[in-house]
Amino acid sequence: MSAAQYMDRALFLAARGRGRTSPNPLVGAVVVAPDGVVVGQGAHERAGGPHAEVRALDAAGGRACGATLYCTLEPCCHVGRTGPCVERIVDAGIAKVVAAVEDPNPLVSGRGFRYLRSRGVAVEVGLGAAAASAINQPFFTLVRAGRPFVTLKAATSLDGCIAARAGVRTSLTSAEADRHAQRARAGVDAIGIGSGTVLADDPLLTVRGAYREQPLTRVIFDRRLRTPPAARVLSTAAAGPVIIITCAGAASARARRALEAAGARVEVAADASLGAALRLLGASGIGSLLLEGGAVLHAAAWDEGLVDYVRLYVTPRTLGPGGVRLFDGRRFRSGRLLNLRVEPVGVDALIEGYVHGPH
Ligand SMILES: NC(=O)c1ccc[n+]([C@@H]2O[C@H](COP(=O)([O-])OP(=O)(O)OC[C@H]3O[C@@H](n4cnc5c(N)ncnc54)[C@H](OP(=O)(O)O)[C@@H]3O)[C@@H](O)[C@H]2O)c1
Repeated sequence: MSAAQYMDRALFLAARGRGRTSPNPLVGAVVVAPDGVVVGQGAHERAGGPHAEVRALDAAGGRACGATLYCTLEPCCHVGRTGPCVERIVDAGIAKVVAAVEDPNPLVSGRGFRYLRSRGVAVEVGLGAAAASAINQPFFTLVRAGRPFVTLKAATSLDGCIAARAGVRTSLTSAEADRHAQRARAGVDAIGIGSGTVLADDPLLTVRGAYREQPLTRVIFDRRLRTPPAARVLSTAAAGPVIIITCAGAASARARRALEAAGARVEVAADASLGAALRLLGASGIGSLLLEGGAVLHAAAWDEGLVDYVRLYVTPRTLGPGGVRLFDGRRFRSGRLLNLRVEPVGVDALIEGYVHGPH
């Protein structure tokens, strides 16, 4: 097997932790003896659990001596919930570490590599970097920008509308697309909607028909606290917390008390911008947010440059002149989605891609 194949194996293992490691990254590791035999492998399978390198080294035992360790992220050099991986790597007698990317966490960011080199371990960085960055977008965005990775999700008609009329719930997409969207909910830390959608649709915001291990945080962006305490989402505490984000001076203390009594966690952002609200979520360790609308919230996210990924379900029907347009009145610079994917889902078309490219 080639070095690239060992790294592919490590990336495959990393994906095992999907949906379970947040706010930690997905990491996989493979220990390869000098004769090319894989003698140990492991993944970081859940937050607080052993790191991938430790699992791989445990599996390899004495066979790690003189071996090469392939890992999808720079090994850690700080004491978190588990001990520093670099010490374990040196103690095991690993001769060379091949890592896909540097860990942007300020507690690591190159220190792990320096430690290894200073102890005589050869270090090579960059193999499989694009794939390793792509699987850890939420972690990288959280560490670098202090906010979650934002996926804008919307269903639109052929004429670019998300609802038949303002304030009206409109079922647009096929059952297949709805199931697809439910599976996407299962893979993120949080779903977010604006208060307008709560008032119009009164959605449950739970995951249906897809398995999810961690609780799902539901976020309502609602500066004036117009969410009714009887909103259906507040009856779903078993699925995860409901956070309502307001800002100082915009809502009455009475409305806040009523929502808290109904089970919501009301948080006050530093200012009225969506960026401030997202930083609040980042500080709670929310690394990925599926922004499900509606039109005003999506436009605000777009205008503030906070959309990292777009997932659009386009359905083959028109809603006509009264329809609520996605991005109504916005003038865009010309551009295109990156790493574009287009897929038929039932009778609908899914179009998705990065806005700025994976970072
Ligand atoms: N087809 C789809 O994919 C889809 C998905 C969702 C909804 N919809 C439809 O969309 C319609 C609702 O859309 P909408 O535009 O009225 O409501 P919305 O975007 O869900 O909510 C708008 C509200 O969000 C609040 N908000 C909080 N923070 C904000 C910020 N930083 N910037 C801007 N607004 C912020 C504002 O109220 P405050 O000023 O009080 O904060 C604003 O009035 C409904 O008809 C619904 O059925 C369609």
